[in-house]
Amino acid sequence: MENFRINTIEEYNQAYKKSVEQPEAFWGDIAENFLWYKKWDKVVDWSFKDYNVKWFDGASLNITENCIDRHLASKAKDIAFIWESNFEDKPNRVITYQQLHNEVCKTANALKYLGVKKGDRVCIYLPMIPEAVYSMLACARIGAIHSIVFAGFSATSLSDRIQDSDCKIVITSDGSYRGDKSINLKNVVDEALETCASVQHVLVYEHTKIKINFNNDKDIWWHELVPLQEAICEPEKMKSEDVLFILYTSGSTGKPKGVVHACGGYMVYTAYTFTNVFQYNEGDIYWCTADVGWVTGHSYITYGPLLCGATSVIFEGVPTYPDAGRFWKIIDKHKVTHFYTAPTAIRALEALGLDFVSPYKLNSLKVLGSVGEPINEEAWHWYNKNIGKEKCPIVDTWWQTETGGILISPLAGITKLKPSYATLPLPGIQPILVDDKGNEIKGNHVEGNLCIKYPWPSIIRTTYGDHERCKQTYFSTYHNLYFTGDGCKRDQNGYYRITGRVDDVMNISGHRIGTAEVESAINMHVDVVESAVVGYPHDIKGQGIYAYVIAPSTTKDHAILIKEIIAEVNKIIGPIAKPDKIQIVSGLPKTRSGKIMRRILRKVAEGDVNNLGDISTLLDPNVVEEIKNGRVK
Ligand code: WT7
Repeated sequence: MENFRINTIEEYNQAYKKSVEQPEAFWGDIAENFLWYKKWDKVVDWSFKDYNVKWFDGASLNITENCIDRHLASKAKDIAFIWESNFEDKPNRVITYQQLHNEVCKTANALKYLGVKKGDRVCIYLPMIPEAVYSMLACARIGAIHSIVFAGFSATSLSDRIQDSDCKIVITSDGSYRGDKSINLKNVVDEALETCASVQHVLVYEHTKIKINFNNDKDIWWHELVPLQEAICEPEKMKSEDVLFILYTSGSTGKPKGVVHACGGYMVYTAYTFTNVFQYNEGDIYWCTADVGWVTGHSYITYGPLLCGATSVIFEGVPTYPDAGRFWKIIDKHKVTHFYTAPTAIRALEALGLDFVSPYKLNSLKVLGSVGEPINEEAWHWYNKNIGKEKCPIVDTWWQTETGGILISPLAGITKLKPSYATLPLPGIQPILVDDKGNEIKGNHVEGNLCIKYPWPSIIRTTYGDHERCKQTYFSTYHNLYFTGDGCKRDQNGYYRITGRVDDVMNISGHRIGTAEVESAINMHVDVVESAVVGYPHDIKGQGIYAYVIAPSTTKDHAILIKEIIAEVNKIIGPIAKPDKIQIVSGLPKTRSGKIMRRILRKVAEGDVNNLGDISTLLDPNVVEEIKNGRVK
């Protein structure tokens, strides 16, 4: 394994050059490092025009055999995961590679017992417990497709996702803990299932022992089924292009779409990037604080680290419980060497002060990572100084649910860093900046829309059940390019800095939420006739949600109406999408053709009320005055 590690910047340059000049030879060599039942006929076959891509076509494999079985000869007793509970006094669970093998096989056999077959969809709605990882891998073991839904999403969001991919089984727990809160997850599942005819069984892991409704026809306790299964389950032979998982993510229009990833390419790319970006070595302890409900948890908690035989920490709780020193305490406790988190967490902890950091040594740390949103310079320096003690490189990793793995990032200890820059593309990634008309912006010290002009192994394959939408969203904006939706600068040295979304997607605490989604939830309130949502800069969350709402005939006090609207969004999407500010308005700034001028709404939300630009094309310029005067500060 790992004949693909880059050790120096010269090696990076060589690898990059080869990846562009001979992509097939480049990726073919890397793929040789894995176990395949049958090798590929062709490394890559693709067209961005009529979007179609195949990596390692003709090959067959099982990703779990690469994640687990292949390590058993030398690493059976090595630790795969150390689980840290929400409660610091609760004992850790330590899972060796052998135990992981056994648990995954038992879970896989349990799924088979419940009638799950290759190609069936399984929804996972679990807290951050090892069973979430077992469940993912159990699906992959038998060729079922997992669709994880973050356990903070509401019943409506869960139901939408289950329905969209016709899941046959839901795996959940009785409850979950988040800091001092306990949540009844099973209730959420029960409510969601009222509108999901496809679900035949619910496998329920007993975690918090909260009282739940148990439906004997459908529900099965994990502890009454999984432990009884055999600890051997032959891995299903999967074609390289067979679907590994679906993960729903927000776009600028409509409901979240199911991003589809395929087995072979995803395996090769997550392992390649995990090794090279983090420079993980035998004996290191890696900790990614994400939730498995997001792509970071898929690629860099489960698949990437396991493919490389790493030892990882999994944490159930939140950074501020029992106090804001929890992350740092865990780092000291488990001698974490690699720590990967989101800027929003860094900013939140920075705001709470150094008293929570100073009790801890943090001297095991070697590499720090950042993901999910642009990291501002101040947070970067705070992280570098107070956590990394100015001796740990920070890898600012830019990527997306659709990209499957990291595309632009420093290689730890190899790439020269520049605060707030994701720096250079990884080998195999060919970024290009274009203007709004799609013309390439060449040279350095420029800014534009970030696109990628050549496929990489873990690129999105389709949006589940709707290939047209995939083509439209990613491959139709600019000819022959994958469009990321992000704006980007390239400095004089060719370093990239991602500046944020240029479409109607917000990034709230590193979570991706479409403005259209929040609007449609707000509009569900009976008093609301129309709304418009924009993101605005927020000190901790990166972006906050600002909603303009028209409710002409409401008889309610505005404070009450606002509370109700927030409750509505909470119910329809979940707490992460709750508007931070709501302004009740009598109209929205629209052009004569009826299009909302979001530019104006964004400016007002930002507080930049004197720079609204040309408003002469508005149907009713008066609404602008009203909006400016009523701005929520
Ligand atoms: C969007 C993708 C990548 C896994 C978690 C988020 C933003 C992500 C960075 C970064 C600046 C970043 C982009 C991107 N983003 N990482 N290092 N610097 N922006 O995945 O939910 O699919 O969101 O997150 O805007 O498009 P996601």
